[in-house]
Amino acid sequence: MACLLLPTLFITFHVLVSLVLGYSHHGNMCRSFCGNLTVDYPFALQPGCGHHGFRELLFCINDVLMLHISSGSYRVLDIDYAYDFLVLHDPHMSTCDAIILGGRGNGFVVEPWRAPYLNPTPDTVFMLLGCSAQSPLFQGFPGKHLPCRNVSGLGCEEYYGCPAWEIINPRRVGPVYGSGPPDCCAMPYETIRSVNLSRLDCQGYSSAYSLAPVKVSGPDEWAYGIQVKYSLQGSEDFCRACEATGGTCGYDIDGNSDLCMCGSWNSTSNCDSVHSGAFSYRRKWSSEVALAGLLIVAIFWRIQIILG
Ligand SMILES: *[C@@H]1O[C@H](CO)[C@@H](O)[C@H](O)[C@H]1NC(C)=O
Ligand SMILES: *[C@@H]1O[C@H](CO)[C@@H](O)[C@H](O)[C@H]1NC(C)=O
Ligand SMILES: *[C@@H]1O[C@H](CO)[C@@H](O)[C@H](O)[C@H]1NC(C)=O
Ligand SMILES: *[C@@H]1O[C@H](CO)[C@@H](O)[C@H](O)[C@H]1NC(C)=O
Repeated sequence: MACLLLPTLFITFHVLVSLVLGYSHHGNMCRSFCGNLTVDYPFALQPGCGHHGFRELLFCINDVLMLHISSGSYRVLDIDYAYDFLVLHDPHMSTCDAIILGGRGNGFVVEPWRAPYLNPTPDTVFMLLGCSAQSPLFQGFPGKHLPCRNVSGLGCEEYYGCPAWEIINPRRVGPVYGSGPPDCCAMPYETIRSVNLSRLDCQGYSSAYSLAPVKVSGPDEWAYGIQVKYSLQGSEDFCRACEATGGTCGYDIDGNSDLCMCGSWNSTSNCDSVHSGAFSYRRKWSSEVALAGLLIVAIFWRIQIILG
């Protein structure tokens, strides 16, 4: 009888400890949905969830996922968690069907602190439209040479083939301009760093990205939008370790440091750690003492049974 009682007692105790400490694998407390998009690490819709580099970034408004940065609001069309990029849409961005001038487009400017975390991919082309000859884009190049170029096979020469250009009849120029710059100048993001239409003195812009290795035939088949790469800047390992121990990755709202949420307690490393702050250390430690105590009692009990 005592032989059966002992394991039962042990199992019951273990389950109790697990419940109290939140060791049992609980679901992701931060994952959410907006429309048909999953919002998951490093993104989140609640403060404290996700990675701090992406805090106060995404908002779900009437089932539409919106991204807010200093240049404005964009609709998030897709989040690719496997390849770490987002696809953004700006309603005032020109496409193959419409050229939108008047400086209404957002362009793309992120807060300096967020810049390491969010950057348009090298395969994204920015086509700047109606820029003045005084634009900083064209300064510093001797002999009126142009900095414009194709990006991943996407560029203005082909873009001019769009129906939206038919009524505008664009000024095209070669690598060197005489009377004025071209109506469209394509560039990768690295060259300009921030697409601020008023600073660049441009009327509008378009952005497209290549769906390599898919070869599309013409500009009417290009993917229009801004493809933005997101980077965790070294927090990947932290989150992997946290999730492996049943935690949910988040950050400390006050200090903006990584935090592993373990149900009833938060850890600065992972949910198996005993070195993660005085509070959690004490909890884990006291349960360890209780376990050790029980073990000793059990051993004595067995000895008594054997002797008796
Ligand atoms: C779901 O998202 C895709 C884009 O990934 C979109 O084309 C589609 O219309 C969306 N479906 C619904 C029901 O919102
Ligand atoms: C854990 O951290 C999150 C995010 O900072 C916070 O919302 C939550 O209240 C914390 N939980 C505990 C038990 O301290
Ligand atoms: C864009 O540039 C203008 C003029 O240089 C400046 O006033 C404005 O703050 C900039 N916008 C953003 C979003 O940085
Ligand atoms: C861009 O590519 C087109 C052909 O697709 C070519 O005609 C044009 O000269 C290229 N432009 C630049 C600036 O290299």
